[in-house]
Amino acid sequence: MKLFDVYPVNNIVIDKALGANVWDDQGTEYLDMYGGHAVISIGHTHPHYVKRLTDQLHKIGFYSNSIKMPLQEQLAALLGKISGKEDYQLFLCNSGAEANENALKLASFHNGKKKVIAFRKSFHGRTSLAVAATDNPKIVAPVNETDNIVFLPWEDIAALEQAFKDHEVSSVIIEGIQGVGGIRVASEAFLQKIRSLCDAHNAVFIADSVQCGYGRSGKFFSHDYAGVNADIYTMAKGMGNGFPIGGIIISPKIAPSYGMLGTTFGGNHLACAAALAVLEVIESENLLQNAANIGEYLIAELKQFQQVLEVRGRGLMIGIELPEELAHVRKNLLGDHKIFTGEAKPNVIRLLPSLALTKANADQFLEAFRKEVK
Ligand SMILES: Cc1ncc(COP(=O)(O)O)c(C=O)c1O
Repeated sequence: MKLFDVYPVNNIVIDKALGANVWDDQGTEYLDMYGGHAVISIGHTHPHYVKRLTDQLHKIGFYSNSIKMPLQEQLAALLGKISGKEDYQLFLCNSGAEANENALKLASFHNGKKKVIAFRKSFHGRTSLAVAATDNPKIVAPVNETDNIVFLPWEDIAALEQAFKDHEVSSVIIEGIQGVGGIRVASEAFLQKIRSLCDAHNAVFIADSVQCGYGRSGKFFSHDYAGVNADIYTMAKGMGNGFPIGGIIISPKIAPSYGMLGTTFGGNHLACAAALAVLEVIESENLLQNAANIGEYLIAELKQFQQVLEVRGRGLMIGIELPEELAHVRKNLLGDHKIFTGEAKPNVIRLLPSLALTKANADQFLEAFRKEVK
């Protein structure tokens, strides 16, 4: 059997990893400034994470949501404490798309309305409603098309106000920092406006924190910079440091009922052990502060390069927009300097490393970048 060929891959086999480094099968070391697509939050193969998962696997790996699960309750308590959303309710699933799918559906159950406001260049996942709310027609199949999604320009307050006049809005979904869209930070004023319009019109504010959340921005949720709460936060990527787990946290004003949401795998024992290990390390190693500090350092240093068109982002979610003549830089960082980075079209290098990135790691990246843009 062949693989279904949907990924353009680098010709590299990685078979070992530790912290911010990975090694290929020839023993070559790489610096991972990509974090396996913003997934590696506490660093590869962190010893506490490995131990917690191993211990759990020896006890029990999986049972369904038909029994009591103290691990889920522990996870909810610690997540509430670290995120500061202690009165929210946790529903666990398996991926970012699934988290958004559940959030959009829950919003509609809650207020009985249908229209969803999403923004240009957004990315919310590849399942039915999540992909319909994603601004990329190439990945929306005919069966996913719906007139329930209203796309608005990014940061256009007048268009947002008008949309609330024109439609019965069920929810507004927004990334606090657009990832795939090129690392674009939502302004505090824009997020505050969404909050007040949702309040005035009984609509649900959904903060897609799949990529920009879980400490990546230097705060637990990047939307927190605006000083307002969303009604639902969606999470995945960094939540399990590579173990597939997603979730939504839900404001106390939205009430659950039996059967409203559900999943077979979501919140299983192993996934909860992984997520607990991640939060324990985030807390004990003060990784939110580290992400803020190292991110600030990297952004300040990158802004010194005259060749760079723009540096955007917060914490360890950074976009470096390069001119066309420097389009080769990302490829050379990998080929010549053994550094993985991400990209956003047309010409943005995306940095999404572990939140435990050290200053020495940051300097290694900056040195290689300096040589390439010279
Ligand atoms: C902002 C955002 N939302 C949702 C998703 C979908 O997550 P997943 O690939 O886990 O389904 C992604 C993935 O890149 C994302 O960046």
